[in-house]
Order: sequence, then C-alpha cells, then structure tokens
Amino acid sequence: MIKLDLSNVSSKVIGDEGLDLASIFNEYNPKIQDIITGLNMKKDKPGSWLQWMNLGYNEETVWYVKEFAAMVDGRFDNVLVLGIGGSVLGAMALSEALLKPYWNFLDNEKRENYPKIFFLDNIDPDQITALLNTLDLRKTLVNVITKSGSTAETMSQFMIIKDRLYELLGDDYRKNIVATTDNHSGILRQLANEEGYKTFVVPDDVGGRFSVFSAVGLVPLALVGIDIDEIIRGIKIMDLALKNTDVTKNIAAQNALVHYLMDIKKGKYLSVMMPYSSRLKYISNWYAQLWAESLGKEYDRNGNKINNRPTPIKALGVTDQHSQMQLYSEGANDKIITFIRVGEFDNTLEIPNIFEYTGLNYLGGKTINRLINAEADATAVSLANCNRPNLTIHLPKINEYYLAQLFYMFEMQTAIIGELYDIDAFNQPGVEQAKNYTYALMGRIGYEESAHELNEKINSNKEIYSV
Ligand code: PA5
Repeated sequence: MIKLDLSNVSSKVIGDEGLDLASIFNEYNPKIQDIITGLNMKKDKPGSWLQWMNLGYNEETVWYVKEFAAMVDGRFDNVLVLGIGGSVLGAMALSEALLKPYWNFLDNEKRENYPKIFFLDNIDPDQITALLNTLDLRKTLVNVITKSGSTAETMSQFMIIKDRLYELLGDDYRKNIVATTDNHSGILRQLANEEGYKTFVVPDDVGGRFSVFSAVGLVPLALVGIDIDEIIRGIKIMDLALKNTDVTKNIAAQNALVHYLMDIKKGKYLSVMMPYSSRLKYISNWYAQLWAESLGKEYDRNGNKINNRPTPIKALGVTDQHSQMQLYSEGANDKIITFIRVGEFDNTLEIPNIFEYTGLNYLGGKTINRLINAEADATAVSLANCNRPNLTIHLPKINEYYLAQLFYMFEMQTAIIGELYDIDAFNQPGVEQAKNYTYALMGRIGYEESAHELNEKINSNKEIYSV
C-alpha cells in the first residue's frame, strides 16, 4: 500500500508550527468516526454526489469499456480526447504517469500497437489548428467527454472536429466518435442518440473532478492499453482501508485533519503538491482542481459567509527546487507541502564515473535514481529545519495499482476535509457562473439579460494603459 509520512508536520520536529499528532488524533477521533460513517451511509442517497465511492465496484462499466477497447483494437493510430476540467484531468494525469514517457514519439512496436493519445483541454485556435494539421483524423478515434453535454469549450472543439470528420469520411464519420456524457440529459446525449455515436455514461451523482474512475477516465486509459483491472484492484483495496473509522489507521482522514488544522490553527492554507517524478507531473493539475473546486466555497452549510481559503499550488520535484523552494523555505510560512516519493522507478540509470574533479566525482558510479530521492529527502529535511510543515507520500512504484490507491485517497481526503470545514465539497457554483457568462457573451438563447448586463460591465470603467 502507499504510505503517508507525517513526521515533518509534527511539533516534535517543527516546534510551534507543527501539530501534536497523537493528541489531535485522539481529540478528533469521534468527529472523524462520524464523518466516515456518515459518508458511507449517505453515499447511495440520490443527490449526495457520493457515487464516486462506488466506482471501484462497477464491474459492468469495466466490462463494457474493455469490450469496446478490444473492438476498436488496431483500427486507430490516435485517440483524441476532448474535454475540460474534471472531464479530462484525471485521464491526462494517469496516462502521463502510466504510459511510457514520450509515448507519442514511440513507434508502433514500442507502443505495442496501441494508439497515440492527445488531449485537447483548451480552445486555443493555434493549438487546435496545429493538432488538426498533424493528426490524420481518418485514423483517429475521438472521445468527447462532457457530463453536462453543453460546455462551450468541449462542444466547440467537437463541432470543429465532427465537421472535418464528416468531410473526410461521409456518413462513416460516426465510427470515429465515442461520446461520454450524462445518461439522460444534455445536448451531447441527444446528438449521440440522433446521430448514432457509441456512448459511455458519466454516472449520476458523480461530479467531474471525482469521475476519473468512471468511463470518463477508464475509456481513454483502456484504449491505450492501461490495465484498468489493476486500477479497480487499487481503488477497492484503498476503499476498504479508508472505511476504517479510526483516524490512526486511516491515511485519508489523517491527511484531511492535518491540512484542516494546519489551515485553521496555523495559517497554512496553501497546499503545495510536489511529486518527485516527471511522470507524475500532471497529478498536481488533477489535485489542484480537486482541492480548489471542492474547497473554495463562499458559504458553509449553515449559510455563514466563510470564503474558504485552501489553495493548491502545483510544483514538480526536483525542477521546482530551483524555482519555488526559496519561497517555501524563507517566504511566508503559510504552506503545507506534499511530496510524492517513488520507491522504485522502472529504469535504473547510472551516472558514469568520468571526471576526477572533487566537485563531480561524488556523483560518478551512483544512480540518478538515488540522486532524485536524495533530493526529495534533503528538501523535506531542509524545510523541516526552517519549521515548514511537509509530508511525504511513499508510492512504491508507478503503476496502475498504486496510482489508483493514491487518487482514491485524495478523493476521500477531500470529502473528509469538506466535512471538517462543513461545506458542500461537491458543488461548483463559481464554475457554473463563468459558464453561464460565456453562454451569454456568445449569444446563447435564454441568456440575453446576462449578456446585456455583462456587456455594460465590460465596456464601462475601462482603465487601459500603454507605453
Ligand atoms: O469538476 C467539475 O465539475 C468541472 O471541472 C467539470 O468537469 C468541467 O467544468 C467540465 O464540465 P462538463 O463535463 O459538463 O463539460
């Protein structure tokens, strides 16, 4: 199993900036018990948005996803995933971690004949044009993913690509499309029914940022040969472990409690996510969305205005030791830093002993593997020496089983900390508002009033400067 090392958040190590772990576990154990029992009891209640807790048991979806992947096996050179936010961040992070690095540059043999994979999660005209000029769409399977079925970014991408596919393939274009969307509602569901696309379902009561283990993440991952059975095995074992209501045995509860108390008692509301592996780089993006959208809320459940402040920061070890670490060590002591340390990398790379200089020969004959983990350990200790709280998640290896454990633990940790803050961690009114404003500015019927109001705001009180 993955492990959580909390030594450097303990007051034994970082003094007054830290927490007395034994005493807080003791004090909060009854509350954590209530929270975990409560989440498990209400997870099947419609409208509780907790169906993500059941995704490890969705054998039927796994079966259909694998059947589809087998059916299209060998037919496509590329998979192109269209989506934004929770609809793609999980699959992006997991595919980057689990596929061989530089996957799209590898030849067919090295990719074991699985397709290349591309994600479009922005609407930059230059990027989209360049991608369309690169990909042979006739040999591309397009997986369009949107729960609402109407998100402007995803649907505009889809409209451009569907049009091109139709030009190239005529009526057969639909064979190159697989849509993942709500089972009943939304324009994409309607389109899929009318035009006959293959579809998968974003289950009811699973929000975007908690959807990675539904068809949203599993379809693209299975299409490039990632072992989704191992993912399911990882979720199940972690789910079982996290059903334990004793905080001393539940790492998601511990991490939630530590982050919560570090915020409200010690003023450390910035949560830095810093994996020490380039393959894990996009985990920080996925985590940033999970943390920010779930916890950044204006009101608590009793309607008190709280403007909740936990704020994620994305970082990468060792790279950001040379860009952000100065701030973390000596700037405001308002952060709690999470390191992810990989036990065993797939490759071992020795540094040749080729220079006699004393400033270099200490490296020769050692491995880069040893260097990266030495740097992770050194950074953790050096921050602790400056009384900066940090914790390390030990990932034994980068594989489906351990990453599923890690992602599921973060999801549960987010749900638990949401309960500690007493907020609704599963809505996103701020995101919805921005979506509605976009519809208004783009002239969608029904949004005329907002459009008028917005245009007035945009055009008044302008202060634009130039040299
Ligand atoms: O987590 C969320 O709910 C959001 O980030 C959504 O995933 C994102 O806004 C995309 O929405 P949709 O899947 O409806 O296109």
